[in-house]
Amino acid sequence: MKKTRKTPETLRSWRWYGAQDLRAFGHRSRTAQMGYTRSDYAGKPVIAIINTWSDINPCHSHFRQRAEEVKRGIWQAGGFPVEMPAMSLSEPFQKPTTMLYRNLLAMETEELLRSYPADGVVLMGGCDKTTPALLMGAISMNLPAIFMPAGPMLRGDYKGQPLGSGSDTWKYWAELRAGNISEADWQDVEDGIARSPGHCMTMGTASTMTSTVEAMGLTLPGASSIPAPDSRHAQMAALTGKRIVEMVWEDLLPSDILTPASYDNGVTTALALSGSTNAIVHMVALARRSGFDFGIDRYDELAQRTPVLANIRPSGKYLMEDFFYAGGLRALLRQLGDLLDTAQLTVNGRPLGENIAAAEVWNADVIRSRANPLVASDGLAVLRGNLAPDGAVIKPPAAAPELLVHTGRAVVFEDYNDMAARIDDPALEVDATSVLVLRNAGPQGAPGMPEWGQLPIPKKLLEAGVRDMVRLSDARMSGTSYGACVLHIAPESAVGGPLALVRNGDLIALDVPARTLELVISDAEMDRRRAAWVPPAPKFERGYGALYLKHVSQADKGCDFDFLEPVGAAPIVADSTAGATRGAVARDGEPEIH
Ligand code: FES
Repeated sequence: MKKTRKTPETLRSWRWYGAQDLRAFGHRSRTAQMGYTRSDYAGKPVIAIINTWSDINPCHSHFRQRAEEVKRGIWQAGGFPVEMPAMSLSEPFQKPTTMLYRNLLAMETEELLRSYPADGVVLMGGCDKTTPALLMGAISMNLPAIFMPAGPMLRGDYKGQPLGSGSDTWKYWAELRAGNISEADWQDVEDGIARSPGHCMTMGTASTMTSTVEAMGLTLPGASSIPAPDSRHAQMAALTGKRIVEMVWEDLLPSDILTPASYDNGVTTALALSGSTNAIVHMVALARRSGFDFGIDRYDELAQRTPVLANIRPSGKYLMEDFFYAGGLRALLRQLGDLLDTAQLTVNGRPLGENIAAAEVWNADVIRSRANPLVASDGLAVLRGNLAPDGAVIKPPAAAPELLVHTGRAVVFEDYNDMAARIDDPALEVDATSVLVLRNAGPQGAPGMPEWGQLPIPKKLLEAGVRDMVRLSDARMSGTSYGACVLHIAPESAVGGPLALVRNGDLIALDVPARTLELVISDAEMDRRRAAWVPPAPKFERGYGALYLKHVSQADKGCDFDFLEPVGAAPIVADSTAGATRGAVARDGEPEIH
Protein backbone atom coordinates (compact mmCIF):
# COMPACT_ATOMS: atom_id res chain seq x y z
CA MET A 1 0.00 0.00 0.00
CA LYS A 2 1.42 3.37 -1.04
CA LYS A 3 2.07 5.62 1.92
CA THR A 4 1.29 9.28 2.27
CA ARG A 5 4.43 11.37 2.46
CA LYS A 6 4.94 12.90 5.87
CA THR A 7 4.46 16.62 6.44
CA PRO A 8 6.03 18.67 9.23
CA GLU A 9 2.76 18.55 11.16
CA THR A 10 2.60 14.73 11.03
CA LEU A 11 6.15 14.23 12.30
CA ARG A 12 6.31 12.56 15.69
CA SER A 13 8.58 15.36 16.96
CA TRP A 14 5.85 17.91 16.17
CA ARG A 15 4.19 16.78 19.40
CA TRP A 16 7.19 18.15 21.27
CA TYR A 17 8.01 21.21 19.19
CA GLY A 18 4.99 22.24 17.14
CA ALA A 19 2.25 23.02 19.63
CA GLN A 20 1.53 26.47 20.96
CA ASP A 21 1.37 25.53 24.62
CA LEU A 22 3.45 25.63 27.75
CA ARG A 23 5.01 22.19 27.19
CA ALA A 24 6.22 23.00 23.69
CA PHE A 25 7.56 26.33 25.00
CA GLY A 26 9.67 24.32 27.44
CA HIS A 27 11.04 22.08 24.70
CA ARG A 28 11.86 25.02 22.43
CA SER A 29 13.42 27.14 25.15
CA ARG A 30 15.59 24.22 26.25
CA THR A 31 16.68 23.61 22.67
CA ALA A 32 17.58 27.31 22.46
CA GLN A 33 19.63 26.77 25.63
CA MET A 34 21.85 24.44 23.58
CA GLY A 35 22.51 27.19 21.05
CA TYR A 36 19.98 26.24 18.38
CA THR A 37 17.46 28.61 16.81
CA ARG A 38 14.05 27.60 15.51
CA SER A 39 15.38 27.57 11.97
CA ASP A 40 17.66 24.68 12.97
CA TYR A 41 14.80 22.32 13.82
CA ALA A 42 11.34 23.73 13.10
CA GLY A 43 9.40 21.39 10.83
CA LYS A 44 12.45 19.16 10.31
CA PRO A 45 12.77 15.46 11.12
CA VAL A 46 14.56 14.94 14.42
CA ILE A 47 17.04 12.13 13.88
CA ALA A 48 18.33 10.23 16.89
CA ILE A 49 21.87 8.92 16.50
CA ILE A 50 22.22 6.08 18.98
CA ASN A 51 25.95 5.89 19.48
CA THR A 52 27.58 2.97 21.28
CA TRP A 53 30.96 4.75 21.52
CA SER A 54 32.90 4.18 24.73
CA ASP A 55 36.45 4.64 25.95
CA ILE A 56 36.40 0.93 26.73
CA ASN A 57 35.19 -0.30 23.35
CA PRO A 58 38.13 -0.45 20.91
CA CYS A 59 35.85 -1.66 18.10
CA HIS A 60 33.95 1.64 18.24
CA SER A 61 36.84 4.00 18.96
CA HIS A 62 36.15 5.91 15.71
CA PHE A 63 32.47 6.49 16.54
CA ARG A 64 32.91 10.00 17.96
CA GLN A 65 34.20 11.08 14.55
CA ARG A 66 31.68 8.96 12.64
CA ALA A 67 28.80 10.51 14.59
CA GLU A 68 29.96 13.92 13.33
CA GLU A 69 29.90 12.57 9.77
CA VAL A 70 26.41 11.17 10.25
CA LYS A 71 25.34 14.60 11.57
CA ARG A 72 26.85 16.30 8.53
CA GLY A 73 24.64 14.16 6.30
CA ILE A 74 21.55 14.83 8.41
CA TRP A 75 22.10 18.61 8.36
CA GLN A 76 22.69 18.57 4.61
CA ALA A 77 19.45 16.70 4.02
CA GLY A 78 17.41 19.07 6.18
CA GLY A 79 17.15 17.08 9.40
CA PHE A 80 17.99 17.90 13.00
CA PRO A 81 20.53 15.43 14.49
CA VAL A 82 20.44 14.48 18.16
CA GLU A 83 23.18 12.15 19.37
CA MET A 84 22.18 9.80 22.18
CA PRO A 85 24.87 7.70 23.85
CA ALA A 86 23.90 4.14 24.75
CA MET A 87 25.52 1.20 26.53
CA SER A 88 28.49 0.01 24.50
CA LEU A 89 28.69 -3.81 25.06
CA SER A 90 32.45 -4.05 24.59
CA GLU A 91 33.11 -7.69 23.79
CA PRO A 92 36.68 -7.90 25.11
CA PHE A 93 36.05 -6.19 28.43
CA GLN A 94 32.49 -6.73 29.66
CA LYS A 95 32.10 -9.65 32.10
CA PRO A 96 30.82 -12.25 32.45
CA THR A 97 29.64 -11.74 28.86
CA THR A 98 28.08 -9.04 26.69
CA MET A 99 25.28 -11.51 25.99
CA LEU A 100 24.01 -10.92 29.51
CA TYR A 101 23.46 -7.28 28.53
CA ARG A 102 22.23 -7.58 24.92
CA ASN A 103 18.64 -7.32 26.03
CA LEU A 104 19.44 -4.34 28.26
CA LEU A 105 20.82 -2.39 25.27
CA ALA A 106 17.77 -3.47 23.27
CA MET A 107 15.53 -2.07 26.00
CA GLU A 108 17.62 1.11 26.24
CA THR A 109 17.38 1.64 22.48
CA GLU A 110 13.62 1.16 22.43
CA GLU A 111 13.01 3.41 25.44
CA LEU A 112 15.34 6.18 24.21
CA LEU A 113 13.38 6.29 20.97
CA ARG A 114 10.04 6.10 22.72
CA SER A 115 10.68 8.75 25.32
CA TYR A 116 12.43 11.40 23.20
CA PRO A 117 11.25 13.32 20.12
CA ALA A 118 12.78 10.97 17.53
CA ASP A 119 11.33 10.78 14.02
CA GLY A 120 14.00 8.40 12.77
CA VAL A 121 17.19 6.81 13.98
CA VAL A 122 20.72 5.95 12.91
CA LEU A 123 21.97 2.99 14.93
CA MET A 124 25.76 2.97 15.36
CA GLY A 125 27.07 -0.46 16.31
CA GLY A 126 29.14 -3.39 15.14
CA CYS A 127 30.93 -5.05 18.05
CA ASP A 128 29.17 -8.41 18.39
CA LYS A 129 25.98 -7.97 20.46
CA THR A 130 25.53 -4.27 19.66
CA THR A 131 24.10 -5.06 16.22
CA PRO A 132 21.28 -7.37 17.35
CA ALA A 133 20.62 -5.31 20.48
CA LEU A 134 20.19 -2.01 18.63
CA LEU A 135 18.01 -3.61 16.00
CA MET A 136 15.85 -5.54 18.47
CA GLY A 137 15.00 -2.22 20.13
CA ALA A 138 14.49 -0.41 16.82
CA ILE A 139 12.25 -3.17 15.45
CA SER A 140 10.05 -3.01 18.53
CA MET A 141 9.82 0.79 18.31
CA ASN A 142 9.32 0.70 14.53
CA LEU A 143 10.49 4.18 13.58
CA PRO A 144 12.45 4.71 10.34
CA ALA A 145 15.90 3.26 11.09
CA ILE A 146 19.24 2.68 9.38
CA PHE A 147 22.02 0.62 10.88
CA MET A 148 25.52 2.12 10.45
CA PRO A 149 28.07 -0.67 10.88
CA ALA A 150 31.42 0.04 12.56
CA GLY A 151 33.36 -1.76 9.84
CA PRO A 152 36.08 -4.34 10.35
CA MET A 153 39.56 -3.40 11.56
CA LEU A 154 42.59 -3.83 9.31
CA ARG A 155 44.38 -7.17 9.06
CA GLY A 156 46.61 -8.04 12.00
CA ASP A 157 50.34 -8.39 11.40
CA TYR A 158 52.84 -10.86 12.91
CA LYS A 159 56.28 -11.14 11.35
CA GLY A 160 54.83 -10.18 7.98
CA GLN A 161 51.97 -12.68 8.21
CA PRO A 162 48.32 -11.55 8.50
CA LEU A 163 46.70 -12.23 11.87
CA GLY A 164 42.98 -12.71 12.38
CA SER A 165 41.06 -11.59 15.48
CA GLY A 166 40.29 -14.43 17.82
CA SER A 167 41.16 -17.26 15.44
CA ASP A 168 44.89 -16.57 15.61
CA THR A 169 44.66 -15.88 19.33
CA TRP A 170 43.35 -19.40 19.93
CA LYS A 171 45.85 -20.84 17.45
CA TYR A 172 48.97 -19.21 18.91
CA TRP A 173 47.76 -19.73 22.51
CA ALA A 174 47.60 -23.46 21.77
CA GLU A 175 51.10 -23.29 20.25
CA LEU A 176 52.42 -21.42 23.31
CA ARG A 177 50.88 -24.02 25.64
CA ALA A 178 52.35 -26.79 23.50
CA GLY A 179 55.78 -25.12 23.77
CA ASN A 180 56.09 -24.39 20.04
CA ILE A 181 56.44 -20.58 20.29
CA SER A 182 58.24 -18.35 22.83
CA GLU A 183 56.88 -15.69 25.21
CA ALA A 184 58.53 -13.08 22.93
CA ASP A 185 56.63 -14.47 19.92
CA TRP A 186 53.43 -14.34 21.94
CA GLN A 187 54.15 -10.66 22.79
CA ASP A 188 54.50 -9.92 19.06
CA VAL A 189 51.09 -11.51 18.45
CA GLU A 190 49.64 -9.36 21.25
CA ASP A 191 51.04 -6.16 19.76
CA GLY A 192 50.05 -6.83 16.16
CA ILE A 193 46.70 -8.58 16.21
CA ALA A 194 44.46 -5.49 16.65
CA ARG A 195 46.04 -2.48 14.96
CA SER A 196 43.21 -0.14 13.97
CA PRO A 197 39.70 0.92 15.01
CA GLY A 198 36.93 -1.42 13.92
CA HIS A 199 35.40 -4.72 14.90
CA CYS A 200 37.01 -8.16 14.58
CA MET A 201 38.08 -8.74 10.98
CA THR A 202 37.57 -12.50 10.90
CA MET A 203 34.10 -13.89 10.21
CA GLY A 204 33.18 -13.61 13.86
CA THR A 205 29.86 -12.48 15.23
CA ALA A 206 30.50 -8.84 14.35
CA SER A 207 31.19 -9.39 10.63
CA THR A 208 28.46 -12.02 10.46
CA MET A 209 25.77 -9.82 11.99
CA THR A 210 26.66 -6.60 10.16
CA SER A 211 26.70 -8.48 6.84
CA THR A 212 23.48 -10.29 7.68
CA VAL A 213 21.58 -7.10 8.48
CA GLU A 214 22.92 -5.52 5.29
CA ALA A 215 21.46 -8.44 3.33
CA MET A 216 18.17 -7.89 5.16
CA GLY A 217 18.11 -4.34 3.81
CA LEU A 218 18.89 -2.46 7.02
CA THR A 219 22.13 -0.68 5.94
CA LEU A 220 23.11 1.28 2.87
CA PRO A 221 24.32 -1.12 0.15
CA GLY A 222 27.91 -2.21 0.67
CA ALA A 223 28.20 -0.58 4.10
CA SER A 224 29.17 -3.61 6.17
CA SER A 225 32.33 -4.57 4.28
CA ILE A 226 34.17 -1.22 4.41
CA PRO A 227 37.14 -1.31 6.81
CA ALA A 228 36.66 1.13 9.68
CA PRO A 229 39.69 3.36 8.93
CA ASP A 230 38.95 3.64 5.17
CA SER A 231 37.81 7.08 4.00
CA ARG A 232 34.90 5.36 2.27
CA HIS A 233 33.63 4.42 5.71
CA ALA A 234 33.37 8.11 6.63
CA GLN A 235 31.61 8.76 3.33
CA MET A 236 29.15 5.96 4.10
CA ALA A 237 28.44 7.53 7.51
CA ALA A 238 27.52 10.87 5.91
CA LEU A 239 25.36 9.16 3.28
CA THR A 240 23.58 7.23 6.04
CA GLY A 241 22.75 10.55 7.72
CA LYS A 242 21.41 11.93 4.45
CA ARG A 243 19.28 8.92 3.72
CA ILE A 244 17.56 8.64 7.11
CA VAL A 245 16.03 12.11 6.69
CA GLU A 246 14.37 11.08 3.44
CA MET A 247 13.25 7.79 5.01
CA VAL A 248 11.34 9.79 7.63
CA TRP A 249 9.49 11.77 4.94
CA GLU A 250 8.76 8.50 3.10
CA ASP A 251 7.66 6.87 6.38
CA LEU A 252 9.78 3.82 5.51
CA LEU A 253 9.68 1.61 8.60
CA PRO A 254 11.52 -1.55 9.71
CA SER A 255 8.20 -3.40 9.39
CA ASP A 256 8.10 -2.41 5.69
CA ILE A 257 11.55 -3.89 5.15
CA LEU A 258 11.55 -6.96 7.38
CA THR A 259 9.55 -9.90 6.07
CA PRO A 260 9.98 -13.66 6.42
CA ALA A 261 11.77 -13.55 3.06
CA SER A 262 14.22 -10.87 4.23
CA TYR A 263 15.01 -13.01 7.29
CA ASP A 264 15.66 -15.93 4.94
CA ASN A 265 17.97 -13.63 2.97
CA GLY A 266 19.83 -12.73 6.17
CA VAL A 267 20.27 -16.34 7.25
CA THR A 268 21.31 -17.44 3.75
CA THR A 269 23.94 -14.72 3.81
CA ALA A 270 25.22 -15.72 7.25
CA LEU A 271 25.52 -19.29 5.99
CA ALA A 272 27.26 -18.33 2.74
CA LEU A 273 29.79 -16.45 4.86
CA SER A 274 30.23 -19.47 7.16
CA GLY A 275 29.25 -16.99 9.83
CA SER A 276 29.27 -17.23 13.58
CA THR A 277 27.03 -19.72 15.35
CA ASN A 278 25.95 -16.78 17.53
CA ALA A 279 23.95 -15.44 14.60
CA ILE A 280 21.35 -18.18 15.02
CA VAL A 281 20.44 -16.92 18.51
CA HIS A 282 20.31 -13.31 17.36
CA MET A 283 18.33 -14.02 14.19
CA VAL A 284 15.70 -15.96 16.12
CA ALA A 285 15.44 -13.06 18.60
CA LEU A 286 15.18 -10.44 15.83
CA ALA A 287 12.57 -12.40 13.91
CA ARG A 288 10.46 -12.92 17.00
CA ARG A 289 10.61 -9.15 17.64
CA SER A 290 9.22 -8.76 14.11
CA GLY A 291 6.40 -11.11 15.02
CA PHE A 292 7.63 -14.00 12.87
CA ASP A 293 7.81 -17.53 14.20
CA PHE A 294 11.31 -18.22 12.92
CA GLY A 295 12.80 -21.29 14.56
CA ILE A 296 16.25 -22.86 14.50
CA ASP A 297 15.02 -25.60 12.16
CA ARG A 298 14.50 -23.00 9.42
CA TYR A 299 18.17 -22.13 9.83
CA ASP A 300 19.07 -25.79 9.26
CA GLU A 301 16.78 -26.04 6.20
CA LEU A 302 18.51 -23.04 4.63
CA ALA A 303 21.94 -24.47 5.54
CA GLN A 304 21.19 -27.61 3.55
CA ARG A 305 20.83 -25.61 0.32
CA THR A 306 23.39 -22.83 0.91
CA PRO A 307 27.04 -23.12 -0.17
CA VAL A 308 29.82 -21.37 1.73
CA LEU A 309 31.23 -18.82 -0.73
CA ALA A 310 33.33 -16.56 1.53
CA ASN A 311 36.87 -17.82 2.05
CA ILE A 312 37.34 -16.03 5.36
CA ARG A 313 38.80 -17.23 8.66
CA PRO A 314 38.08 -19.18 10.78
CA SER A 315 36.55 -21.49 8.14
CA GLY A 316 38.66 -20.11 5.29
CA LYS A 317 41.90 -18.29 4.57
CA TYR A 318 41.37 -14.54 4.22
CA LEU A 319 40.19 -11.59 6.31
CA MET A 320 37.51 -8.91 5.95
CA GLU A 321 39.94 -6.43 4.42
CA ASP A 322 40.57 -8.94 1.61
CA PHE A 323 36.82 -9.48 1.30
CA PHE A 324 36.26 -5.74 0.78
CA TYR A 325 38.95 -5.53 -1.91
CA ALA A 326 37.47 -8.64 -3.58
CA GLY A 327 34.13 -6.89 -4.05
CA GLY A 328 32.59 -7.07 -0.57
CA LEU A 329 29.18 -8.31 0.45
CA ARG A 330 27.35 -7.03 -2.63
CA ALA A 331 29.54 -9.21 -4.85
CA LEU A 332 28.91 -12.24 -2.65
CA LEU A 333 25.14 -11.62 -2.64
CA ARG A 334 25.14 -11.46 -6.41
CA GLN A 335 26.88 -14.84 -6.52
CA LEU A 336 24.06 -16.32 -4.44
CA GLY A 337 21.63 -15.65 -7.29
CA ASP A 338 18.28 -17.38 -6.85
CA LEU A 339 19.06 -18.40 -3.26
CA LEU A 340 18.04 -14.85 -2.33
CA ASP A 341 14.70 -13.12 -2.75
CA THR A 342 16.02 -10.03 -4.50
CA ALA A 343 12.62 -8.31 -4.58
CA GLN A 344 12.95 -7.47 -0.89
CA LEU A 345 12.96 -3.77 -0.05
CA THR A 346 16.00 -2.08 1.51
CA VAL A 347 16.57 1.19 3.37
CA ASN A 348 17.51 3.07 0.20
CA GLY A 349 13.99 2.43 -1.07
CA ARG A 350 15.13 0.00 -3.74
CA PRO A 351 14.91 -3.79 -3.91
CA LEU A 352 17.97 -5.79 -2.94
CA GLY A 353 18.41 -6.98 -6.51
CA GLU A 354 18.93 -3.44 -7.83
CA ASN A 355 21.54 -2.74 -5.16
CA ILE A 356 23.68 -5.73 -6.12
CA ALA A 357 23.06 -5.87 -9.89
CA ALA A 358 26.38 -4.26 -10.84
CA ALA A 359 28.55 -5.85 -8.13
CA GLU A 360 31.59 -7.73 -9.39
CA VAL A 361 34.02 -10.18 -7.86
CA TRP A 362 37.65 -9.02 -8.11
CA ASN A 363 39.25 -12.03 -6.46
CA ALA A 364 37.53 -15.36 -7.14
CA ASP A 365 39.46 -17.15 -4.41
CA VAL A 366 38.14 -14.83 -1.69
CA ILE A 367 34.55 -14.74 -2.98
CA ARG A 368 33.82 -18.07 -4.55
CA SER A 369 31.23 -18.84 -7.20
CA ARG A 370 28.48 -21.39 -6.64
CA ALA A 371 30.35 -23.65 -9.05
CA ASN A 372 33.45 -23.51 -6.85
CA PRO A 373 32.27 -23.16 -3.23
CA LEU A 374 34.45 -23.47 -0.16
CA VAL A 375 31.89 -25.92 1.27
CA ALA A 376 28.95 -27.22 -0.77
CA SER A 377 26.34 -26.92 2.02
CA ASP A 378 25.74 -27.40 5.73
CA GLY A 379 27.63 -24.36 7.01
CA LEU A 380 25.71 -24.97 10.22
CA ALA A 381 23.72 -27.92 11.52
CA VAL A 382 20.96 -28.15 14.12
CA LEU A 383 21.08 -31.36 16.14
CA ARG A 384 18.41 -33.03 18.19
CA GLY A 385 18.23 -36.11 20.37
CA ASN A 386 17.79 -37.14 23.97
CA LEU A 387 20.66 -34.82 24.95
CA ALA A 388 19.16 -31.81 23.15
CA PRO A 389 15.38 -32.13 22.89
CA ASP A 390 15.04 -28.46 21.94
CA GLY A 391 18.10 -28.40 19.72
CA ALA A 392 21.84 -27.81 19.64
CA VAL A 393 24.12 -26.27 17.05
CA ILE A 394 27.42 -27.19 15.40
CA LYS A 395 29.43 -25.53 12.66
CA PRO A 396 30.67 -28.46 10.56
CA PRO A 397 33.18 -26.55 8.39
CA ALA A 398 35.03 -25.45 11.54
CA ALA A 399 35.38 -29.04 12.85
CA ALA A 400 37.82 -31.82 12.00
CA PRO A 401 35.84 -33.88 9.45
CA GLU A 402 36.56 -37.21 11.14
CA LEU A 403 34.79 -36.00 14.30
CA LEU A 404 31.45 -35.26 12.64
CA VAL A 405 30.39 -38.85 13.30
CA HIS A 406 31.88 -39.83 16.64
CA THR A 407 31.05 -41.77 19.78
CA GLY A 408 33.16 -41.26 22.89
CA ARG A 409 33.12 -41.32 26.66
CA ALA A 410 32.12 -38.19 28.55
CA VAL A 411 34.55 -36.18 30.66
CA VAL A 412 32.23 -33.88 32.60
CA PHE A 413 33.00 -30.45 34.02
CA GLU A 414 30.40 -29.12 36.44
CA ASP A 415 31.01 -25.46 35.49
CA TYR A 416 33.65 -23.13 34.06
CA ASN A 417 35.71 -22.99 37.27
CA ASP A 418 35.77 -26.77 37.54
CA MET A 419 36.96 -26.96 33.93
CA ALA A 420 39.66 -24.29 34.44
CA ALA A 421 40.91 -26.11 37.55
CA ARG A 422 41.12 -29.61 36.03
CA ILE A 423 41.51 -29.40 32.26
CA ASP A 424 45.32 -29.42 32.36
CA ASP A 425 45.64 -31.80 35.31
CA PRO A 426 47.97 -34.59 34.18
CA ALA A 427 45.79 -37.01 36.18
CA LEU A 428 42.62 -36.15 34.20
CA GLU A 429 41.29 -39.33 32.64
CA VAL A 430 40.94 -38.21 29.04
CA ASP A 431 42.17 -39.23 25.61
CA ALA A 432 41.67 -37.97 22.06
CA THR A 433 38.43 -39.95 21.69
CA SER A 434 36.82 -38.51 24.83
CA VAL A 435 33.90 -36.08 24.65
CA LEU A 436 34.46 -33.01 26.83
CA VAL A 437 31.24 -31.83 28.50
CA LEU A 438 30.75 -28.41 30.12
CA ARG A 439 27.50 -27.62 31.90
CA ASN A 440 26.05 -24.67 33.80
CA ALA A 441 27.22 -22.38 30.99
CA GLY A 442 23.85 -21.50 29.44
CA PRO A 443 21.58 -18.44 29.63
CA GLN A 444 20.60 -19.13 33.27
CA GLY A 445 23.48 -21.30 34.40
CA ALA A 446 26.52 -19.16 33.64
CA PRO A 447 24.54 -16.82 33.53
CA GLY A 448 24.40 -15.04 30.18
CA MET A 449 25.47 -17.96 27.98
CA PRO A 450 29.11 -16.87 27.58
CA GLU A 451 31.43 -17.95 24.77
CA TRP A 452 32.89 -20.86 26.72
CA GLY A 453 31.85 -23.52 24.21
CA GLN A 454 35.30 -23.96 22.66
CA LEU A 455 36.59 -25.93 25.66
CA PRO A 456 40.41 -26.00 25.64
CA ILE A 457 42.10 -29.21 24.59
CA PRO A 458 43.82 -30.72 27.67
CA LYS A 459 47.50 -29.77 27.71
CA LYS A 460 48.75 -33.34 27.67
CA LEU A 461 46.74 -34.02 24.52
CA LEU A 462 47.92 -30.77 22.91
CA GLU A 463 51.50 -31.84 23.52
CA ALA A 464 50.67 -35.15 21.87
CA GLY A 465 49.50 -33.28 18.77
CA VAL A 466 45.71 -33.36 19.30
CA ARG A 467 44.10 -30.18 17.87
CA ASP A 468 40.38 -31.02 17.89
CA MET A 469 37.98 -33.03 20.03
CA VAL A 470 34.21 -33.31 20.36
CA ARG A 471 33.08 -30.80 22.95
CA LEU A 472 29.55 -30.25 24.28
CA SER A 473 28.03 -27.38 26.22
CA ASP A 474 25.00 -25.15 26.71
CA ALA A 475 27.31 -22.18 26.11
CA ARG A 476 27.96 -20.23 22.92
CA MET A 477 31.26 -20.03 21.07
CA SER A 478 33.02 -17.02 19.64
CA GLY A 479 32.48 -16.74 15.90
CA THR A 480 36.23 -16.61 15.57
CA SER A 481 36.60 -20.02 17.24
CA TYR A 482 36.71 -23.42 15.63
CA GLY A 483 36.53 -27.08 16.51
CA ALA A 484 33.99 -29.90 16.84
CA CYS A 485 32.03 -27.91 19.43
CA VAL A 486 28.34 -28.70 19.97
CA LEU A 487 26.78 -25.54 21.37
CA HIS A 488 23.51 -23.97 22.59
CA ILE A 489 22.20 -27.29 23.97
CA ALA A 490 18.58 -26.68 24.95
CA PRO A 491 17.09 -26.90 27.43
CA GLU A 492 20.24 -25.92 29.32
CA SER A 493 21.53 -27.89 32.31
CA ALA A 494 20.67 -25.22 34.89
CA VAL A 495 16.95 -25.66 34.20
CA GLY A 496 17.17 -29.45 34.24
CA GLY A 497 17.99 -30.17 30.60
CA PRO A 498 19.51 -33.62 29.96
CA LEU A 499 23.03 -32.14 29.87
CA ALA A 500 22.66 -31.91 33.67
CA LEU A 501 22.31 -35.69 33.83
CA VAL A 502 25.48 -36.77 31.99
CA ARG A 503 28.04 -38.63 34.11
CA ASN A 504 31.74 -39.31 33.60
CA GLY A 505 32.23 -42.32 31.37
CA ASP A 506 28.79 -42.20 29.71
CA LEU A 507 28.89 -42.81 25.97
CA ILE A 508 27.83 -39.85 23.82
CA ALA A 509 27.04 -40.31 20.13
CA LEU A 510 27.31 -37.40 17.70
CA ASP A 511 26.15 -37.84 14.11
CA VAL A 512 26.12 -34.53 12.23
CA PRO A 513 24.90 -35.88 8.85
CA ALA A 514 21.97 -37.51 10.70
CA ARG A 515 21.55 -34.35 12.86
CA THR A 516 21.55 -36.34 16.11
CA LEU A 517 23.12 -36.04 19.55
CA GLU A 518 22.42 -38.90 21.95
CA LEU A 519 23.37 -39.88 25.46
CA VAL A 520 23.66 -43.65 25.24
CA ILE A 521 21.66 -44.62 28.31
CA SER A 522 18.18 -46.10 28.70
CA ASP A 523 15.09 -43.94 29.15
CA ALA A 524 14.61 -45.53 32.57
CA GLU A 525 18.12 -44.52 33.64
CA MET A 526 17.53 -41.01 32.31
CA ASP A 527 14.33 -40.81 34.38
CA ARG A 528 16.12 -42.03 37.52
CA ARG A 529 18.82 -39.39 37.13
CA ARG A 530 16.23 -36.69 36.42
CA ALA A 531 14.32 -37.52 39.60
CA ALA A 532 17.51 -37.14 41.65
CA TRP A 533 18.57 -33.84 40.03
CA VAL A 534 18.83 -30.79 42.29
CA PRO A 535 18.64 -27.36 40.60
CA PRO A 536 21.53 -24.97 41.25
CA ALA A 537 20.95 -21.84 43.34
CA PRO A 538 20.12 -18.72 41.27
CA LYS A 539 23.19 -16.60 40.50
CA PHE A 540 21.47 -13.26 41.15
CA GLU A 541 19.11 -12.20 43.93
CA ARG A 542 18.64 -8.56 42.91
CA GLY A 543 19.09 -5.98 40.18
CA TYR A 544 19.26 -6.48 36.45
CA GLY A 545 20.66 -9.99 36.92
CA ALA A 546 17.55 -11.09 38.82
CA LEU A 547 15.32 -9.60 36.11
CA TYR A 548 17.38 -11.43 33.50
CA LEU A 549 17.11 -14.81 35.26
CA LYS A 550 13.37 -14.43 35.65
CA HIS A 551 12.60 -13.59 32.04
CA VAL A 552 15.34 -14.85 29.67
CA SER A 553 14.30 -17.53 27.17
CA GLN A 554 16.34 -20.54 26.10
CA ALA A 555 18.76 -20.50 23.14
CA ASP A 556 16.27 -21.98 20.68
CA LYS A 557 13.95 -19.03 21.40
CA GLY A 558 16.68 -16.38 20.98
CA CYS A 559 17.43 -15.62 24.66
CA ASP A 560 15.14 -12.58 24.59
CA PHE A 561 13.02 -11.52 27.55
CA ASP A 562 9.53 -12.97 27.48
CA PHE A 563 7.95 -9.56 28.13
CA LEU A 564 9.70 -7.96 25.13
CA GLU A 565 8.63 -10.40 22.46
CA PRO A 566 5.47 -10.17 20.51
CA VAL A 567 4.44 -13.74 21.25
CA GLY A 568 3.12 -15.42 18.14
CA ALA A 569 2.18 -13.54 15.01
CA ALA A 570 1.20 -10.01 15.97
CA PRO A 571 -1.67 -8.35 14.13
CA ILE A 572 -0.91 -5.30 12.03
CA VAL A 573 -2.68 -2.25 13.40
CA ALA A 574 -2.87 1.28 12.10
CA ASP A 575 -1.17 4.06 14.04
CA SER A 576 -2.06 7.45 12.64
CA THR A 577 1.27 9.00 13.58
CA ALA A 578 3.75 6.21 12.98
CA GLY A 579 2.27 4.49 9.96
CA ALA A 580 1.46 0.81 10.04
CA THR A 581 2.97 -0.78 13.11
CA ARG A 582 2.76 -4.25 14.53
CA GLY A 583 0.32 -4.76 17.34
CA ALA A 584 3.00 -5.62 19.82
CA VAL A 585 4.87 -2.38 19.23
CA ALA A 586 1.85 -0.15 18.97
CA ARG A 587 1.78 -0.02 22.76
CA ASP A 588 4.12 2.93 22.23
CA GLY A 589 1.00 4.87 21.27
CA GLU A 590 1.08 8.59 21.82
CA PRO A 591 3.78 9.68 24.23
CA GLU A 592 2.57 11.85 27.02
CA ILE A 593 4.54 15.07 26.72
CA HIS A 594 5.57 16.81 29.92
FE1 FES B 1 34.42 -6.16 19.18
FE2 FES B 1 35.30 -8.67 18.32
S1 FES B 1 35.82 -7.54 20.12
S2 FES B 1 33.88 -7.33 17.45
